[in-house]
Amino acid sequence: MKVACVAGARPNFMKVKPVLDALEARSVETLLVHTGQHYDALMSDVFFDDLRLRKPDRYLGVGSGTHAEQTARVMTSFEQLLREEPVDVVVVVGDVNSTLAAAVVGAKQGAVVAHVEAGLRSRDWRMPEEVNRVVADRVSDLLFAPSEDAAENLRNEGYRDDQIHLAGNVMVDTLLAARTRALERPILATLGVQPGTYGLVTLHRPENVDTPDVLLPLLGILGELAVDLPLLLPAHPRLRAALGGSPVPRGIRLLDPLGYLDFVALEASARVVLTDSGGVQEETTMLGVPCLTLRGSTERPVTVTEGTNVVVGRDPARVRLGFRRALNGEIEVRRPALWDGRAGERIADVIAAERPGRLRPTDLSRASAAGPTLRSVPAATS
Ligand code: UD1
Ligand code: UDP
Repeated sequence: MKVACVAGARPNFMKVKPVLDALEARSVETLLVHTGQHYDALMSDVFFDDLRLRKPDRYLGVGSGTHAEQTARVMTSFEQLLREEPVDVVVVVGDVNSTLAAAVVGAKQGAVVAHVEAGLRSRDWRMPEEVNRVVADRVSDLLFAPSEDAAENLRNEGYRDDQIHLAGNVMVDTLLAARTRALERPILATLGVQPGTYGLVTLHRPENVDTPDVLLPLLGILGELAVDLPLLLPAHPRLRAALGGSPVPRGIRLLDPLGYLDFVALEASARVVLTDSGGVQEETTMLGVPCLTLRGSTERPVTVTEGTNVVVGRDPARVRLGFRRALNGEIEVRRPALWDGRAGERIADVIAAERPGRLRPTDLSRASAAGPTLRSVPAATS
């Protein structure tokens, strides 16, 4: 049996690593495909070294573009790849454009499609990731949910029980595997900061960074918080482009994007993290660091109900209140079930049990409830 594992953007590398390792440990032949959605050294290459991820077997080099352009480039390149090199299973991770594109192509090429991180729902259709998640799940045969709420979403949408596997969180596998190496990094000394004396910020969602009328007030609130606690902000290229060289408020220190080990080292010693990232909400929960999510909703409610995450949105009063609570140690530290470092193994066990050459099921009645009903579901935890 041959399995293609597809990664394309920064958060995909952490997700694909434990699955690839566990498949190889079970002597399953793997093909690592990098779509090239992210391509800068600090958005891509650095993660191969930091995560000890082997070099990709195939690089599609799709680069940036509009949603349709980028998705289409992944689809045409990946379709060509699968024609040249057919596989039995296509593993896609997360919710980026590369995830959606590879899942659709894999399904049409007759591969068994496995979605790692299935079932997450923000219920916010303005987020491109929500569209990507729902479509990727819909064309997947194997749905690996990171948490019980995600499995429940899938059941509610009508997926069959035999498709849904509560596997746990692969980001956590990677974090636990790399944590010791991360904590050995000298990044705090390099930046001249002490543990617990700074906040860490990431911002890259289009809804937060693409419109100056939203971004500037948001930076204004962060500038206010930075009077009490200096903030480090490793800037995603989307934020860098939005800033276009404009200064940020005093107390906010803009950095280049960081490698995984340096970023985790800073996360682990931060007094508080403010973010709109999905993965960072999960990592802070695992590290026991308070996290304020600068969005109206989260597709990862377990980080709120069983973790350190508080969804504060962009309302200054809520951000200030969350910040005070974090600084006063009022945010409880808890860890979700099955976030134990073994999600990759559970996923590989299921994939390795697939029959080589199995045809995709002809039962198109699955997930019959998905689609229209989702649009009327109220907002998730906030
Ligand atoms: C993408 C994902 C998002 C994910 C994020 C992780 C989609 C729709 N979005 O958003 O879900 O949270 O990655 O970081 O898939 N750019 C560079 N260098 C790079 C890559 C991008 O300069 O290596 C710039 C380009 O100008 C590009 C812009 O960043 O147009 C946005 O990149 P893109 O991959 O389209 O979306 P992200 O905002 O990175
Ligand atoms: N990350 C990193 N360097 C940074 C910012 C984030 O290595 O400068 C890591 C972070 O530890 C997490 C992942 O990138 O593992 C999250 O990716 P991102 O926030 O880009 O995407 P999202 O999770 O929101 O899809």
